[in-house]
Formats: sequence, C-alpha cells, structure tokens
Amino acid sequence: MDAFRNKLDGKLAALLFFEPSTRTHESFRVAALNLGMDICGFADPKASSVAKGESLMDTVKMFVGYGVDVIIMRHGKAGAVRYIAERVNIPVINAGDDSNEHPTQALLDTYTIHEAFGKIDGLKVGMIGDLRYGRTVPSLAYALSNFDVEMHFIAPPALMLREHVRMFLEERGADFHEHDVSSLSSILPELDVLYVTRIQKERIPDEMEYEKVRRSYTVTRELLKNAKESLIVMHPLPRVDEIRSEVDGTKHALYFRQASNGMYVRMALLYSILKEG
Ligand code: NCD
Repeated sequence: MDAFRNKLDGKLAALLFFEPSTRTHESFRVAALNLGMDICGFADPKASSVAKGESLMDTVKMFVGYGVDVIIMRHGKAGAVRYIAERVNIPVINAGDDSNEHPTQALLDTYTIHEAFGKIDGLKVGMIGDLRYGRTVPSLAYALSNFDVEMHFIAPPALMLREHVRMFLEERGADFHEHDVSSLSSILPELDVLYVTRIQKERIPDEMEYEKVRRSYTVTRELLKNAKESLIVMHPLPRVDEIRSEVDGTKHALYFRQASNGMYVRMALLYSILKEG
C-alpha cells in the first residue's frame, strides 16, 4: 500500500451520498485519503441543500464547478448514478443505486473470493437472502458471469432474483440454479462460498411481507458442521440476524476481511481511473 501513498496528491473527490452508508462511504474516504486526495461532499443529504428541494443535477453541477476530479455517488433511485454519469464530463463511480447495482462491492467481493481460493473459475457460489431488493447480489452475479462459476440463488420465493437479472444471466449463458430458502442445509455441503445478505427491510413496501420472511434463514455454527472445510462465508454487511455472532470465530467467517478489502480495492479503482499517463 505504501507504494501508492499520495500517488493522487492534488486530486479532489466528491462523495455524494444520498442514502445511508458506513462501509462504502468510509472505505472510499479512507482510500482517497491514503492516495493523498482531498475530499468534499456529504454523507447525509438531510444536512445539504437537497433537503431544501435542490435538484440532483444542480447539486452535482455545483461540485463539478468546484473542479472535482471524480464523483462517488450513492442514490436511492435506480439509474440516478447513470443519469449523472451521462451528463458530466468527469468519472462517476456508482456506490449503490437503490436495489439496482453496487458494482464496487462486486469488485471487492470477487477480489475476496480470489484471495481465498487463488481462483474464481470452478467454484460453486451460493447467494442467500434478499435477492430481490438487495443490490449486492445482482452486481456480484453479473461479475461472476464472466467466470466459469456455478451460482446457486437461495431465497424465499418473494425475495428471488428480479426478472431482468435472471434474463441477463440467461443471455450470458451463466450456470445458475434457484432454490427455496428451506433447501439451504441440503445445498450447503456442495458450496465453496456462501454469500449471505440481509433482508432489506427499508425497501420492502409492506411491513407484513417483511414479517413473513424475516428469520427465514440463519447461519449458525450447527449449520456449518455440514459445510466443506474450505467454505468461506461472506456478507456485504451490515448484518442483522442472518449470521449468528458465534460464526465469527470460525475459519469460515470472512466478512470482516471482506470489508477491509473494500478499502484496498477502492484505492486500486481510484488510482486506475485517475492516474496520469
Ligand atoms: C450493502 C448495500 O448498501 O447495498 N452494504 C454495503 O455497501 N456494504 C448491503 C446492505 O445494505 O444490505
């Protein structure tokens, strides 16, 4: 990492987070600081003029006018980041747009899988939880469709992959299978990676629907007794109650390592976008 310290000295990043974030915001911020960059922006739109009704485009234009070199943006509307990227002449990084995509999370997830196994081809990857409203699984699945990976999507029927994600994977010829959440224990012994996600309570339109699916899966030490020795358990975090803390001390638990990889991967991304020459 020292080799990259201050390599982007003098560059300025705008972090525009219109939705809450801990890891993504802070890891981008620390990544930029490690590279010697300056940062501006906000993590809480309530504290910016957005709260006064300012339009997204006006907010962004202002930062472009300050001479920022890159915009890192999270937004609660699917497609909002693309909308901005198509209208400004500086790089825009998607740090999550509603239930749509979270591409930098997919980069750090695939990096973490590669770091653990020294490869990605040939692995069996299970993704469990809220595959409908969560954005990390679609992005990870898009990334994994570039490799020879067997994907297993495990969810309650109401939280299964959305049709456009399924169609994308079919068009790519990806090897994927869908299972009801009740089959977790029978699929688990085959898997190399179990990627767990939380149910996106804030995005589920109906509280009753949330109550029906909450706690429909929990990763426990007991469950992992049937797993491969080499199974890794991942989670983009934050977790709520889908992985018991008793799992944290097992050799399978990789989610905190995964989170710290986020900082390095985001450093690499910023460097590759902004380096001169
Ligand atoms: C995820 C997100 O924001 O989509 N968190 C993250 O970026 N690490 C996952 C989530 O909120 O469930």
